[in-house]
Amino acid sequence: MTILVTGGAGYIGSAMVERLRAEGMDVVVVDNLSRGHRDAVPSEVPLLVGDVSDEAFVSSVFAEREIQAVFHFAAESLVGESMENPGKYFRNNVGGVLTLLQAMSAQGVRRFVLSSTAATYGDPDTVPIVETAPNAPTNPYGQSKIMCEQLLRWFGEIHGIRWTALRYFNAAGATASCGEDHDPETHLIPLALDAAYGRRGALKVFGNDYPTPDGTCVRDYIHIADLAEAHLLALRYLETEEFGIFNLGNGKGFSVLEVLDVAGRVAGKPVPFEHAPRRPGDPPTLVASSEKARKVLGWEPKYATLESIVESAVRWSESHPNGYEK
Ligand SMILES: NC(=O)c1ccc[n+]([C@@H]2O[C@H](COP(=O)([O-])OP(=O)(O)OC[C@H]3O[C@@H](n4cnc5c(N)ncnc54)[C@H](O)[C@@H]3O)[C@@H](O)[C@H]2O)c1
Repeated sequence: MTILVTGGAGYIGSAMVERLRAEGMDVVVVDNLSRGHRDAVPSEVPLLVGDVSDEAFVSSVFAEREIQAVFHFAAESLVGESMENPGKYFRNNVGGVLTLLQAMSAQGVRRFVLSSTAATYGDPDTVPIVETAPNAPTNPYGQSKIMCEQLLRWFGEIHGIRWTALRYFNAAGATASCGEDHDPETHLIPLALDAAYGRRGALKVFGNDYPTPDGTCVRDYIHIADLAEAHLLALRYLETEEFGIFNLGNGKGFSVLEVLDVAGRVAGKPVPFEHAPRRPGDPPTLVASSEKARKVLGWEPKYATLESIVESAVRWSESHPNGYEK
């Protein structure tokens, strides 16, 4: 079976490629390398450099390869940028899914797994968040992913494409060969490690007056290897089912200050930080209920503690002090 992994040169997509190869599956990567790294894709894996919104390119990918399923990671995912440039998010994220679904429909490819996000829920009334909570995004990024899910629904109904939308909470951690190397980096754990190792100045903690135990935002961190495992289970689920939406998180929330404390202890150096004003659009608490994924998919995250997630990020950071080869 050949799986197309879009965004396979990126952070989570590269861990997916690694996992699929470990399962003995054939993989093809499509990535425009706007944010990904050529070096994140093993040399034996075909890397087709192109844009998922490019109809001619995407059609040729499906026409020339026997692809059975698509894992779609390729997207823009910076919340702040989406508030400044919403068009980029709708064009890239929604346009990319539409182009892929059209090409899949034409070629009779029937299985699609979308990287969706907790940002679809906005600032929820109740935590832990269940999948039936209202969609109320507070930024164009979250809205663009809801629109992708809506496209899936119609292509499912009309063209018989089976799909799952996996709503990740905060992806974190690293495998031996795949880790986090974004530019700009906006994710807390790599920023904290960079600050601890003196690769950047004091980390800014945005807001300390939220209605949380220590006043800083609370998030749910999930390891990229556990996300990859969930994709395999989602693919198996689609052998018998037509669609499904699943939250993927650990079900435990950690405040920014708790993460900095764990990062400092694991790195063996305290994380220097300073308080800064709140950022617009940051909900105080986002914690998943992943009961549905556990019950229906049989998913069981292996990296259940924040320490184990941070330890894996530290190992990768030590072996890749400058990230991937540029
Ligand atoms: N990282 C998280 O915490 C998180 C949380 C929720 C959801 N997600 C979703 O997971 C997916 C992967 O996230 P990530 O952190 O690995 O991001 P990433 O930026 O590291 O990877 C995305 C990859 O997609 C590629 N790409 C972007 N637009 C493209 C296009 N139009 N055509 C071809 N390639 C394109 C980039 O070059 C990059 O390699 C995204 O869809 C994101 O929205 C991520």
